[in-house]
Amino acid sequence: MKILITGGMGFIGSNFVRLLLAERPEWEIWNVDALTYAGNPENLADVAEAAEARGRYRFVRADIADEAAVQGLLDGGDFDALINFAAESHVDRSILSSAPFVRTNVVGTQILLDSARSAGVKRYVQVSTDEVYGDLGPDDAPFSETTPLAPSSPYSATKAAADHLVLAYHHTHRMDVVVTRCSNNYGPYQFPEKLIPLMIVNAITGKRLPVYGRGENVRDWIHVEDHCRGVLAALERGEPGEVYNFGGASERRNLDVVRAIIGSVGVGEERIEYVTDRPGHDRRYAIDFRRAEAELDWLPTRSFESGLADTVRWYLENREWWARVQDGAYRQSAEMIASWGSAGEPAGA
Ligand code: NAD
Ligand code: DAU
Repeated sequence: MKILITGGMGFIGSNFVRLLLAERPEWEIWNVDALTYAGNPENLADVAEAAEARGRYRFVRADIADEAAVQGLLDGGDFDALINFAAESHVDRSILSSAPFVRTNVVGTQILLDSARSAGVKRYVQVSTDEVYGDLGPDDAPFSETTPLAPSSPYSATKAAADHLVLAYHHTHRMDVVVTRCSNNYGPYQFPEKLIPLMIVNAITGKRLPVYGRGENVRDWIHVEDHCRGVLAALERGEPGEVYNFGGASERRNLDVVRAIIGSVGVGEERIEYVTDRPGHDRRYAIDFRRAEAELDWLPTRSFESGLADTVRWYLENREWWARVQDGAYRQSAEMIASWGSAGEPAGA
């Protein structure tokens, strides 16, 4: 298999590259990433060089919304599959400015679809989110794959638009596509703007812990490794034109998540600061993933309590990784690797 992954320098994409290097040793992986603020080559620094030397891994810096660059990469590349992780992914940023979200999440997806189709890529996997379904009341049934899409943030609206495009390419052009929709991920290498890593890092560094509203919003939490195994299962066993939900069966109130983190780090509740709520804040997400269980033989394997304890330990043991993100030093790696890997050029060439 020769596969192209977009967004492989981000949180989930880099965990996915690691999974493939470990468990699909014969595959050739191309990692295409624009290295936005969320793209950090240090996420793969310990494995990339050796994999590259064995001819199993290449990094290319390219923007998925740059049609010429994407077409140039895919034409003649003879890729068996394209897995699109690349996105603007943070809801709060989409509230401040939605333009980059439309460009990457919608236009980028359209360009990937058109280029993959004309280059004859055999399978296209779109990594989407449960947020496309909108939100739930306390007693509502969990989201299933047939729940109507009702996105409520600019982020989720762009992800929903992309899902519609991907599924329309299957319907209209008979393209072999699969869409995955997962709940909130946590684990190593998550950018410390998202709830769990932000709270861990702030707890360690003596800062306040900003909880939106009363902390009563509910999310379903899944360890990133379980999500990555789901994406791999969808790639290998998913039905063309099908959608698969993944979840962690771990619904928790935000306040309870923050309390668990401060308990693990060993700081007091007085550090919690209740701040102005996020505009349009979705109340609750919950996932029905029975289709993935039945058709992909997939189930989440990590309990939230042990996964969170491992994640807190990872941030305690990898202080340099997040300190370099916080002080901006990680951008030096991005600029260095970017100067090696421009579109069409292998990193290190
Ligand atoms: P992230 O923000 O950590 O990483 C995104 C990556 O995409 C970065 O490496 C960035 O440089 C790259 N990128 C952004 N714009 C690009 C562009 N125009 N061209 C090429 N690369 C670009 O995101 P994440 O949390 O790892 O999420 C990955 C995917 O999974 C996203 O599609 C997201 O919508 C989806 N998802 C995330 C979660 C979650 O909880 N984080 C849950 C479900 C689905
Ligand atoms: O459900 C999947 C989605 O999960 C993904 O598609 C998104 O890419 C990902 O960012 C995530 O979206 P959320 O908005 O749920 O995640 P975030 O970590 O930003 O927030 C989780 C909850 O915590 C949410 O209810 C808002 C709250 N929150 C968040 C931050 C950053 C706080 O109370 N304080 C904070 O400082």
